[in-house]
Amino acid sequence: MIAKTPALPDAQTVTQVRHYTDRLFAFRVTRPASLRFRSGEFVMIGLMGDNGKPLLRAYSIASPAWDEELEFYSIKVPDGPLTSKLQHIKEGEEIILRPKPVGTLVHDALLPGKRIWFFSTGTGFAPFASLLRDPQTYEDYDEVIITHTCRTVAELTYGREIIEQIRTDEMLAELIGQENLAKLRYYPTTTREESPRMGRITTLIETGELFADLGVPPLDPANDRAMVCGSLAFNIDVKALLEKAGLREGANSDPAEFVVEKAFVGDGI
Ligand code: FAD
Ligand code: A2P
Repeated sequence: MIAKTPALPDAQTVTQVRHYTDRLFAFRVTRPASLRFRSGEFVMIGLMGDNGKPLLRAYSIASPAWDEELEFYSIKVPDGPLTSKLQHIKEGEEIILRPKPVGTLVHDALLPGKRIWFFSTGTGFAPFASLLRDPQTYEDYDEVIITHTCRTVAELTYGREIIEQIRTDEMLAELIGQENLAKLRYYPTTTREESPRMGRITTLIETGELFADLGVPPLDPANDRAMVCGSLAFNIDVKALLEKAGLREGANSDPAEFVVEKAFVGDGI
């Protein structure tokens, strides 16, 4: 009798793959029936390594908690242990997903406020792709502002598509409420290629251009709440600006005015 290959532990099937640039792609997988998560959280996902052991990395869930599938938005690191393989994944193939969601970019970690800011760079958009499709975001705030900064225009595409989907998808409009969708403001910027809005968001905060462009007052701890997700350097710089404006960092156990999470762990950090 031929022995059956053992099934992957925590295996989920890929249902869709979309490539955006030579550095970025997104994919959807089946969702374990038992998986409950809060929009903004991350899980460990991966593939079986050549040594027969799972090779896992942290990934923000980019889909909202109500979605029957799970979506991920990923970098392609040319010689990255996981993504050098993961970038070739095809529909029908399997990935490993450990169903233990965690993370700080959750509504519970913030005190009630008037305006929520989501500050992101690169794949740091992923947790906000989840939160922006969650009705609670619009129930909790009068204004929802997402900033996304990338080097090039093509790197903004995934985020732009999510915003378009939110604004045009009938099912989402019904779920979130057409009047609630009017609360959403999208502020994309590029730093190394010409586009309608250029510059690091940190510079645009410091000069006040961001607030002038959107017609909103400067950051104020009485009204503003923020979630930050980008490289470590980005997170440090945005955090300093938020603290300068009087906002305090919160956590699940101690809600305050802003929360921060790394979009990835950088070289040597
Ligand atoms: P690694 O050995 O993990 O990384 C190699 C190098 O590539 C890193 O040192 C860094 O310089 C660079 N790098 C890694 N990830 C990124 C990135 N996302 N953007 C730019 N440069 C990067 N990655 C995602 O693509 N999407 C996510 O939603 C995501 N969520 C994360 C959430 C958390 C809390 C953390 C800590 C990390 C997250 N990451 C995410 C990064 C992810 O865990 C892996 O690092 C990434 O998939 C690359 O894996 P790798 O094995 O190919 O290379
Ligand atoms: P810049 O092109 O000026 O470095 P990366 O691809 O290196 O992760 O960067 C993604 C985007 O985040 C880029 O547009 C980059 O701008 C911007 N960025 C990187 N570091 C910071 C920082 N410390 N503060 C603000 N923006 C940053």
